[in-house]
Amino acid sequence: MSEQPERILRFDIFRRIEHWTNAGSFITLGLTGLIQKYSEANLSQFILNVLGGIETVRIIHRISAILLVLVSIYHIGAFVYGFFVQRKPLSMIPTKEDLTNAWHSLKYNFGYEKHEPKQGFYTFEEKFEYWALIWGTVIMGITGFILWNPILSTKLLPSSFIPVAKAAHSGEALLAVLAVLIWHMYHVFIKHFNKSMYDGYVSREMMEHEHALVLEDENPWKPAPATDEDFQSRRKIFLGTFPLFAAILVVGLAFFVTAEETAVVTPAQIPDMVEVNSYSPIDPTTIPTSISVEPAEIGTSWEDGFGDLFQENCSLCHAQQGGQSNLNLTNYLSALEGGDSGPAIRPYAGGISLVVIWPARGDHPGKFTPGELAAIRQWIDNGAIEN
Ligand code: HEC
Repeated sequence: MSEQPERILRFDIFRRIEHWTNAGSFITLGLTGLIQKYSEANLSQFILNVLGGIETVRIIHRISAILLVLVSIYHIGAFVYGFFVQRKPLSMIPTKEDLTNAWHSLKYNFGYEKHEPKQGFYTFEEKFEYWALIWGTVIMGITGFILWNPILSTKLLPSSFIPVAKAAHSGEALLAVLAVLIWHMYHVFIKHFNKSMYDGYVSREMMEHEHALVLEDENPWKPAPATDEDFQSRRKIFLGTFPLFAAILVVGLAFFVTAEETAVVTPAQIPDMVEVNSYSPIDPTTIPTSISVEPAEIGTSWEDGFGDLFQENCSLCHAQQGGQSNLNLTNYLSALEGGDSGPAIRPYAGGISLVVIWPARGDHPGKFTPGELAAIRQWIDNGAIEN
């Protein structure tokens, strides 16, 4: 034993870069996601402000998501290269031994076994975590796509999938963050301080504890020799096909990102109290903020105040059917009915009512003051009563 090295290389530099890119995007996604999930909490408000507000946070979230997909594409390549070109064994596939090892390990933890189970290149704990990551990434990718492209998604799926996707996206996120905080942190920091993702090496002693089988002579995890001709020709096949496959996936990703201007935008001039959410009226996304605009004193109903407000500000262009966008805002019923894009006032849903959304757009000539807009929003949220 004495001539054997004390430290054993476990992860090469590519694996480590992959791990940390994945970790970086995971941590960023978790952080920027959870402060949106728990946007009411003071801590979330604080982080939101530090990061530059909700819009910036959303952009950071989306950039990290793109990074995660790119790492996943790289991972597929690394896997195919290892399996097909290097003929490495499928060390992450769960086996019968993992079940017996798990049982053995449980008994060991309760003191019914003298030694830990002898495990291979990846322990059952690591495999479990790996598959949780794969599964989680697939779920988050699919539900993230639906939330990123709600209009396109609802051409293919019933609209009820949007709140479902939202619930799954945010629930799975919490699960993943907790799993990493508890399971991963325990195994790599507390159980032993495992530095193999920093410098690549683990001590022989730790190998004996966790991956004893790798130290045995008939270690099946040794990579095949990398010199023979077969290897070179497999490598050629890989280099000739995988880039094409990866390019197709990247084009898919570009589609994912640009398929539609996401519906969850916050128009720049909407006062903070006005929440715009044009995809999910059942469960609107709140726009977290610490400033709110006091609604102006307009009145209580269309007859009392609001009708006049529209008359003053909008009738120049929206006074008859056939006018701009076929929208007539000079009487209550035609305002409800709306114009080319459908109802302009949706009682109880101020956030998705066009008379709130349009005047807040930078490119629309008709405007309200923030206080007026907040008052209109409130009047509609309360049912948009006529008199
Ligand atoms: C100076 C002219 C003008 C004024 C004043 C004006 N608008 Fe408009 N509005 C337009 C034009 C032009 C369009 C069509 C824009 C387009 O289709 O891109 C439009 C479109 C709209 C739409 C979309 C209707 C649909 O069904 O597509 C809404 C809602 C709207 N305006 C609301 C208002 C409100 C509320 C006011 C009062 C604050 C107002 N507008 C004042 C010119 C005006």
